[in-house]
Amino acid sequence: MGAGRGRGRGRGGGAGALLLLPPLLLLLGVARAQVAWTPIYVDGNSQVDLWTQEAQGCSCPFDAARRDCACCVRDGGCHCGRSMPNRCSQCGLEQHCGRMCNVTLDSRFLASRSGKTFGQIKSPSLEGPAFCWFLLQPDVGQRVEVQVYRLVSAGRFNGTSCEGGFLQLVDGQEPSPRAGDVQICGGNERYAPPVVLFADRGPASLIFQIGESTLRSQFLAYYSFTPSGGGGAVGFQARGGRRIDLTECDWLYQDFLCREPGSCVLASPGYPGLYPPNRQCKYHITTSSIQTQVHISFTSLLLPYNHCRTHYVAIYQGSTPSSPLLNTLCSNRKAQFTYSGPKLLLEFSSGPPVPPYDYNGFLATLEFTEKITSTESSTGSIVKSTEPGVMMDGTSAPRRPLSRTGCDLVFSGNDSRSGHFDTKDRPWSPLCTLTFVGRPTDIVHISLFNYQLRAPSCQTVAEVYDGYADDSVKPRHRLCSPLTKHAQDPSGRFLEQQTFVSSDNALTLVLRRPSPSFGSSEKEFLNGAFLFHDEQVDGTLRPDTLCDVDYYGLSSPRQGHVTNPGGQQLFWNYEGTLRCSQRFIPAANQSITLTITTLARLSANPNCHTLCGDSGCRCVTKLIPLLQMDHLAIITDQGQVLSCLCGDFQQQWLPVSVRSWSPMRLVYSVAHYSWNMQGFQFTSSYAFVVDSVCGYARISEPAGEIHSKNISSSAMKLNHYFHQDCVWLLDSKIERQLTIELATEQSRPCTAWNISAYKYDDSTNDNFGELLHTFCPRDRRKEIPLPWKLDTVLLRLRATTGTAPEYSIRWTSQIVRANTRVSGPTSAPSAAAGKWMGPWLGTLLALLWYRS
Ligand SMILES: *[C@@H]1O[C@H](CO)[C@@H](O)[C@H](O)[C@H]1NC(C)=O
Ligand SMILES: *[C@@H]1O[C@H](CO)[C@@H](O)[C@H](O)[C@H]1NC(C)=O
Ligand SMILES: *[C@@H]1O[C@H](CO)[C@@H](O)[C@H](O)[C@H]1NC(C)=O
Ligand SMILES: *[C@@H]1O[C@H](CO)[C@@H](O)[C@H](O)[C@H]1NC(C)=O
Ligand SMILES: *[C@@H]1O[C@H](CO)[C@@H](O)[C@H](O)[C@H]1NC(C)=O
Ligand SMILES: *[C@@H]1O[C@H](CO)[C@@H](O)[C@H](O)[C@H]1NC(C)=O
Repeated sequence: MGAGRGRGRGRGGGAGALLLLPPLLLLLGVARAQVAWTPIYVDGNSQVDLWTQEAQGCSCPFDAARRDCACCVRDGGCHCGRSMPNRCSQCGLEQHCGRMCNVTLDSRFLASRSGKTFGQIKSPSLEGPAFCWFLLQPDVGQRVEVQVYRLVSAGRFNGTSCEGGFLQLVDGQEPSPRAGDVQICGGNERYAPPVVLFADRGPASLIFQIGESTLRSQFLAYYSFTPSGGGGAVGFQARGGRRIDLTECDWLYQDFLCREPGSCVLASPGYPGLYPPNRQCKYHITTSSIQTQVHISFTSLLLPYNHCRTHYVAIYQGSTPSSPLLNTLCSNRKAQFTYSGPKLLLEFSSGPPVPPYDYNGFLATLEFTEKITSTESSTGSIVKSTEPGVMMDGTSAPRRPLSRTGCDLVFSGNDSRSGHFDTKDRPWSPLCTLTFVGRPTDIVHISLFNYQLRAPSCQTVAEVYDGYADDSVKPRHRLCSPLTKHAQDPSGRFLEQQTFVSSDNALTLVLRRPSPSFGSSEKEFLNGAFLFHDEQVDGTLRPDTLCDVDYYGLSSPRQGHVTNPGGQQLFWNYEGTLRCSQRFIPAANQSITLTITTLARLSANPNCHTLCGDSGCRCVTKLIPLLQMDHLAIITDQGQVLSCLCGDFQQQWLPVSVRSWSPMRLVYSVAHYSWNMQGFQFTSSYAFVVDSVCGYARISEPAGEIHSKNISSSAMKLNHYFHQDCVWLLDSKIERQLTIELATEQSRPCTAWNISAYKYDDSTNDNFGELLHTFCPRDRRKEIPLPWKLDTVLLRLRATTGTAPEYSIRWTSQIVRANTRVSGPTSAPSAAAGKWMGPWLGTLLALLWYRS
């Protein structure tokens, strides 16, 4: 602080006692709670104003003979001259003595003239309507500070804003009022402490605007070009954070930029001055590691009393205000918190201004520390139910790694199924080997979150081996120094995951470092998460996916449970739409039954609800596409949705089950997954059952019958559905006249189930040729006469229904003695002749002709 500043005392006088000087200016931080401002020194006890020591008693600069002129403060005060013999002003502002309105206050100019970078602004007594501007031009590294002590006939506060007049500090050289920013007003106000305003974006304009007729509108303020940074709150400068572009007041703080204590400081806009009204400022905080703890300590908090609904600080576990709320602060409750990441949001909300404007927001410091315990991990895998409470903060009991020699570490799939690794936890050693060894049926899945390889020209390397590290094998992947990866990019978004999956039950990470530190106190390191995935139990992980698995009817256990993925540390740096598909592939002669038994925490989204009917449960959406909402669906390989659950799902509708004879996928979709909001939970059981109800059968008998099997059980559940897609290939090497008769007792809609006859077609993938006919249950009994000489036909039963289809199929063949037919209508299929009537008529005519 400059020499002219310190504790000081002023006295009334000057403008007819209307504008009293502040009675007592205290050192910042000591005054009334946490309001802070730059103390402006007033020389003596009986001074008239900042620059006039006595109204008279000194010689007059314009007339050496007179001694009745004002005595000016020696340090910075200059006499106003003949027109105002009893007044002094700041040197450099003499021409504004009489009328301080529409004035430019330039820091450099005033410092050169008066030696001071602070002063007073005393407006003339104006008759409203009136308008005055004061342009404050700071030097580099200075904040504009204004302290308002007195306001007379300057509008009034109507509860939400000022009417009739106001005083306002706006950024920029243009003195145009901004309705959304803070304006102060009042009829006859003395502010002690002063209303303090700061501007941090270069030049600022103080605007005094009276919009109605008044007799004497006036204000008194002090200004200061306060050094930013430096020490003390008045010079406050955000540290360690980054302003987010195109936002009014949002910031991003990332742990790797806040390593030194005190390196990250955040505050409300304009701190320690009055903050702008009606703002939502978001301070995003990110961490790079599961073990990082965030300490937020509010060194100052002063918000209007009894306005907690509109003026508050809220902290969320996540990156949006819809994330879980951790804490809120208001009034002057100072506090300290410790949370874990990966993302936190500190939201500062301000409401309408509250006179007498004696509040100034908050100041907080951020510190990031690493939990010291090593190799913390929690168990859990895709099939096992995981406890999110344990996963969320990674505070499950630390496990002892097998080996603790030097930097080397062995993670055993026997001990923990998933967890986190960090070479920073280990003593430094030039060679650091992390070995992941699973059970015989495991594969190892790892994800690298952060690394810092500093040494030049590839002197430090990190290698990933599929299996064990061995000089004879080449690493699968090699990272060469200098190379740095943070989990997040500079805008706070997670980078794409960098994952590796072993082909067998072992994977090794090797870090080779030449020297303990390279160019910095921070060690070279590597960290991430691992997951042991038991392919026998958890399904086969699909390559290049995070969580898509396949269960094969022949190799997987015949029955088991599946639950929601997303709880393992491997998901720590995943954010966004999460879709995990668990696919079940029954073998021929097998059916698969999926039963969703529990479902919890589906977000109660009003835009989606579940509707269960005979054809399954459906997600009924409005306005928003289904992909943007949490849901759980059972889908065929062809994409047909057999059941879908979303929205405010009723527990009593469970279980929902589907039995199918063709592959099905259980698809778990979370619209916005993050480590802190892991989406909803479910459990489902599955069972592969050997039966021969439905499949692909080739039948060469010339005649026969097929009857539906009774697959309904007496204990049929409410929402149990069947999905069948069965094919019978009626094949014959001999030319024949085939007749098929279909019958059912069920009166069901055609969409519930139906049987279609197709021509056999070699050239297509599934051999389905032209559709000849579709039998619907409402047909009850129908004979499908088929084209002449059609020896091979595909019959396809399709069913999506809660009631198992009951049907019988009977077919007969008449051998055609082709050579006996001399001529006549051919049965060449003709698409134009209609789907089947044409050929049928043709056949009929042919038969008649043949008999005659
Ligand atoms: C100050 O300047 C503005 C224009 O910038 C003008 O409208 C206003 O009348 C001036 N005020 C006085 C008191 O001269
Ligand atoms: C206060 O004044 C503002 C601006 O003139 C106006 O929009 C608002 O409705 C007023 N509020 C009340 C409560 O009168
Ligand atoms: C896991 O446990 C089995 C049986 O106890 C043992 O044979 C195997 O060596 C263990 N594996 C590891 C990596 O510790
Ligand atoms: C299906 O099962 C039946 C009875 O168990 C058996 O006769 C038939 O050969 C099986 N078919 C296939 C393709 O495995
Ligand atoms: C099917 O079997 C169940 C018992 O397994 C029986 O309750 C039901 O009546 C049978 N339905 C028919 C149509 O035979
Ligand atoms: C036949 O049944 C399937 C499955 O239920 C259905 O998707 C399809 O629309 C039905 N076809 C007709 C023509 O109704």
